[in-house]
Amino acid sequence: MLELCAIHKSYTTRGQRRDVLCGVSLQVQAGEFVALCGPSGSGKTTLLLTAGGLLQPDAGSVRLRGDPVYGRPAEALAAFRAENIGFVFQQFHLVPYLTVLQNVIFPSLAARVADAQVRARKLLVTVGLEDRLSHLPTQLSTGERQRVALARALLTEPRVILADEPTGNLDTASAEIVIDQLRLFSQGGHAVLMVTHEQTAAARASRVVQMAALLQEALAKPLPGCLQERSQNPEVRSQNLRIARDFAD
Ligand SMILES: Nc1ncnc2c1ncn2[C@@H]1O[C@H](COP(=O)(O)OP(=O)(O)OP(=O)(O)O)[C@@H](O)[C@H]1O
Ligand SMILES: [Mg+2]
Repeated sequence: MLELCAIHKSYTTRGQRRDVLCGVSLQVQAGEFVALCGPSGSGKTTLLLTAGGLLQPDAGSVRLRGDPVYGRPAEALAAFRAENIGFVFQQFHLVPYLTVLQNVIFPSLAARVADAQVRARKLLVTVGLEDRLSHLPTQLSTGERQRVALARALLTEPRVILADEPTGNLDTASAEIVIDQLRLFSQGGHAVLMVTHEQTAAARASRVVQMAALLQEALAKPLPGCLQERSQNPEVRSQNLRIARDFAD
């Protein structure tokens, strides 16, 4: 379903380049619920944004059901995302002046979902927020906001859900609701990729992938053509090795 192949991504801040993803590959099949684990700063969010069409990699390809995600005009990419990908961000990104119900319905406008109202209400009941429909995000606890973000991601029934620490701010009971929903969603034939620091959340996934393992696998493979020159530079090679070592458990 979702296929990331030899992804490279660096950030340059004040002239200093930091290679975060150095040839990382990962596949998530339909029906799979994959937990992506690794220390802070190891590139998990970067990988998720890249997978979701929000951050173009420097090299490598992202495909959804064989279709390249990047390489289309911005508007077409936005439409593709709206139709195929649901995000649960680390910082929720709720619209502050919309109510809970409106926030959940909002992305479905772009994806033209039928019965959005009815389905949004149902989902909000499922995540235990039936009595918060007309609240604004500022009137919610952090855990409640997290669950609104989850309901919003599920509403359009995207092929892929990308969730960045969706249980990070939740108590045990709410975390269980969120994980149950993600599991159920994957079992319905969707692909779920979830970043988590939590053992209990990872244990419920159908597969656990460690960031360090992805980086180590990447080092064993030849780089794509456009980066061949860099790969022969011993400085780059040793920098990649250092990244993999730093993030090994
Ligand atoms: N927009 C950016 N500009 C410059 N550097 C960035 C940017 N975004 C992330 N980084 C750096 O890239 C590295 C990976 O960041 P990323 O957010 O992907 O890590 P993470 O594994 O999600 O960490 P956490 O578990 O803390 O959320 C970090 O060192 C971070 O400082
Ligand atoms: Mg992160």
